[in-house]
Amino acid sequence: MTAAAAAPVAPLPAPPAPLLSVRDLKMTFPGRTAFPGWMAFPGRRARSAAVRAVDGVSFDLAAGETLGLVGESGCGKSTTGRMIVRLLEPTAGSVVYDGRDISRLRQRALKPLRRELQMVFQDPHSSLNPRWTAARIIADPLLVQGGSAAGARRRAAELLELVGLLPQHLDRYPHEFSGGQAQRIGIARALATGPRLIVADEPVSALDVSVQAQIVNLLARLQEELGPAFLFISHDLSVVKRVCDRVAVMYLGRIVETGDKERVYAAPAHPYTRALLSAVPLPDPAAERARERIMLSGTLPSPAAPPPGCTFHPRCPKAREVCRSEVPLLRVATAGEAREVACHFPEPEPSG
Ligand SMILES: Nc1ncnc2c1ncn2[C@@H]1O[C@H](COP(=O)(O)OP(=O)(O)OP(=O)(O)O)[C@@H](O)[C@H]1O
Ligand code: SF4
Ligand SMILES: [Mg+2]
Repeated sequence: MTAAAAAPVAPLPAPPAPLLSVRDLKMTFPGRTAFPGWMAFPGRRARSAAVRAVDGVSFDLAAGETLGLVGESGCGKSTTGRMIVRLLEPTAGSVVYDGRDISRLRQRALKPLRRELQMVFQDPHSSLNPRWTAARIIADPLLVQGGSAAGARRRAAELLELVGLLPQHLDRYPHEFSGGQAQRIGIARALATGPRLIVADEPVSALDVSVQAQIVNLLARLQEELGPAFLFISHDLSVVKRVCDRVAVMYLGRIVETGDKERVYAAPAHPYTRALLSAVPLPDPAAERARERIMLSGTLPSPAAPPPGCTFHPRCPKAREVCRSEVPLLRVATAGEAREVACHFPEPEPSG
């Protein structure tokens, strides 16, 4: 061995621990009782099957990073988001926030964390208390954390300005705002306590198309200026492309593809991601005319009775025999690539 070869090699610095680490997260909703006990008799199904809304979701989110969670209606996006901010307690799995598993914490232990974990909801009007003024709605999280009334009102006025509203809006009630303005208040409320992680669940899908772009731009600006990490839930891939660094695609309670946004959008590896992206309009009319649309047959199967093997197989144009029996695990498809795919035959298929 030469002297040069024997020289000690400085170890690479360990990557920083993620702010959020979700592992094998599951949520099973119990089946509903169709008939009360006294009406049930042999042969009559008194209880519907349990719903596996989220069935083993794992991902990391770094401080200040924005991850887009996309997928069809009913695939489990909101349930995942609600478990992360602990509006729901998971059936199984862990949610490690800042090094601490919060998945089983009781409400009292969660209270101090509420200032760091916030949520923006889909329907701005139904998520705001109709009997409270904007000032009270925005100030409430500060008051809950023990802030003074005068200080909380001052902060509410600052936040209103930050989200593009005016100080005179402070004393208005939710019904006096448009959908876009109400969503700005929802965003101001989420920002009030200086959170490190915001779960935004379809924050623009209930708004007029003309207003959607304004709110998307506002969220992108706030993320840049204030730097919270975002889990951005949406079924709109164009919106996710505008706002996010990474994307995770969900199908029937599981992540089927995740990776860097540029890579996933440019070369989707999972047949489901390919189909979703083929439906996103392209800005260039010539490219739009030339591209191939992949039409999926059927609808999302019920999470109460997921298909065996790859749950996407009944709709997959590439399905083969193995897909009907073996569950594909989420794994790195191409060596060295920070992208994972759950498919037995991801694109591009190895040649030869
Ligand atoms: N409280 C509940 N009780 C029973 N089933 C539920 C409950 N909440 C959600 N589900 C079911 O869990 C599955 C996932 O629902 P979820 O709301 O997480 O989907 P989603 O991806 O957010 O859909 P969308 O895009 O329509 O908002 C659906 O089948 C839904 O019907
Ligand atoms: S595992 Fe098979 S059925 Fe599932 S997405 Fe891949 S090719 Fe399609
Ligand atoms: Mg939802």
